[in-house]
Amino acid sequence: RVLRGRPRDLAGRKVVISAGGTREPIDPVRYIGNRSSGLQGYALARTAVARGAEVTLVAANVALPDPAGATVVRVESTAELREAVLAAAPGADVVVMAAAVADFRPAVRHDSKIKKTDGEPDAITLVKNPDILAELGELRRAATGVVPAAASGAVPAGASGAVPAGVAGAAPGPGGLPPYAGTGERSPERPGERSPAAGERGPSPKVIVGFAAETDDVLANGQAKLARKGCDLLVVNQVGPGLAFGTPDNAAVVLVAGGAPVEVPRGPKEDVADAVWDLVASRLA
Ligand code: CTP
Ligand code: CA
Repeated sequence: RVLRGRPRDLAGRKVVISAGGTREPIDPVRYIGNRSSGLQGYALARTAVARGAEVTLVAANVALPDPAGATVVRVESTAELREAVLAAAPGADVVVMAAAVADFRPAVRHDSKIKKTDGEPDAITLVKNPDILAELGELRRAATGVVPAAASGAVPAGASGAVPAGVAGAAPGPGGLPPYAGTGERSPERPGERSPAAGERGPSPKVIVGFAAETDDVLANGQAKLARKGCDLLVVNQVGPGLAFGTPDNAAVVLVAGGAPVEVPRGPKEDVADAVWDLVASRLA
């Protein structure tokens, strides 16, 4: 499908988009996964191409055809998605983390298939995954000192959830970021391998966008998440009947660092994508 009638306001811009949902292997045949279809991330990729951007799409377990004009990198686990995103981010103007990233993974990946025995099965112990979005925000803060301002508190009509005092107004200072450094949340580094240092492979992205699906206290949780992750925009999806996972439609509130939230009414996922690119283009200008 050809997308018409869009401004070429991302011409010459490099954008990295993650899409789909990560899978964490248990053994060679089983995994822990989630219901993300990749539709929203693919809509972001198609609309970004239509608006002139050079698009790298990091796709985790998505059963959709490659969008024309985008470079697609297929990954499976969170560790692979992290490597692909951190490799593509330096030098990109924009990174959009639309993928549903598993928060936890099995502590052990069995090399052989787990077999049934007469007794009860062993429990699967989980460990925390690295938070890629927070890492992107922290890499940029370390390289440039950029800490996005807090979102302003104005809440669109009809949206539920008051913002608690001290959340919306609080700048994400050093204590405001998740403690992934040195607490086991970072991926374990294998010998001879290390995380890219800030600025090592190119400049940090100018705009960092996160996604969040929330069920309760949608805006309060979203405002806190925007600050905690150090991103510029946070697209808060409304999860509900016929919305979000696996559906062509979406409804969202985009929280904006240093600005008022933008409500995107229920409609095709392209509408949410275009609302994101409108905000991104104005921040790049
Ligand atoms: N994300 C990420 N790495 C993770 C988890 C999430 O980069 N390990 C990104 C997602 O791609 C998304 C954003 O962070 O853009 C928010 O994800 P979400 O699951 O809503 O946030 P969490 O911090 O994991 O909080 P929650 O407890 O609500 O799951
Ligand atoms: Ca999560």
